Amino acid sequence: MMNFRSFILGLAAAFALPWLLLIVLPAMNYQTLTRVAYDKDKDGVEGFYPPAVVNGQGQLIYIQEGCNQCHTQMIRPVQLGLDGWYKGWGQDQEARPAAPVRSNTLRDYLGEKYAPLGVQRIGPDLTNYGWRAPAAQVIHQKLYAPHSLHDWSTMPAYKHLYKLQKIQGPASERALKLTGKFAPPAGYEVVPTAEADRLVEYLLSLKKDFPVPGQSVAAAPAAAKK
Ligand code: HEC
Repeated sequence: MMNFRSFILGLAAAFALPWLLLIVLPAMNYQTLTRVAYDKDKDGVEGFYPPAVVNGQGQLIYIQEGCNQCHTQMIRPVQLGLDGWYKGWGQDQEARPAAPVRSNTLRDYLGEKYAPLGVQRIGPDLTNYGWRAPAAQVIHQKLYAPHSLHDWSTMPAYKHLYKLQKIQGPASERALKLTGKFAPPAGYEVVPTAEADRLVEYLLSLKKDFPVPGQSVAAAPAAAKK
């Protein structure tokens, strides 16, 4: 019969080793990361990687509303996915760009209080949404009534981020352009709250394809545009 002591020790090791390798070491690795400066000659870009601190208020609302339950913000390395990552997702596919956008690295998330990597990919990945986003008005309309843009959408409506108000004097310039069954009753208009504005600013800022220092700029073709 097996020795009880070595059984317990073996059991402890079976849990401790993955914990150490999958949680403790990566966390320590992440904590020692800092922003790095680009080398103008080698990278062809100036400044730091990553360049900016993320819109914290908008990110909090994103997390509060549970957007990360359905949307990821993490592009996996190609060898883990099937075929890299492409711009078009879902039914309304745009032409696929010639080169897949690069996968994310740990450093991409520096400057964010939290990294909303996501739980499941029920909706499209939003890592680089800022590049393909339509005008702010249209994003507001999507959040208020996703079905008004795509009747097949399974995304929930975030009506509580909007205010239904009586039109007093001239209609607000910020009122959503809703038609048909999505339109508010006559004499009323739907306008974004401050939370909705922060959330949309955050969505528009999502661009995580800055060139990685020391790697070929060609790997991140879109980044040079900014
Ligand atoms: C229940 C799952 C679910 C939740 C929760 C959810 N979404 Fe979505 N979302 C989807 C699906 C599915 C789509 C694709 C269909 C569509 O475009 O309507 C989508 C599409 C989108 C798009 C368009 C993406 C693109 O590539 O064009 C944006 C932007 C978006 N969601 C933002 C949000 C935000 C912000 C929240 C939180 C306030 C949120 N979503 C919460 C499921 C979800």
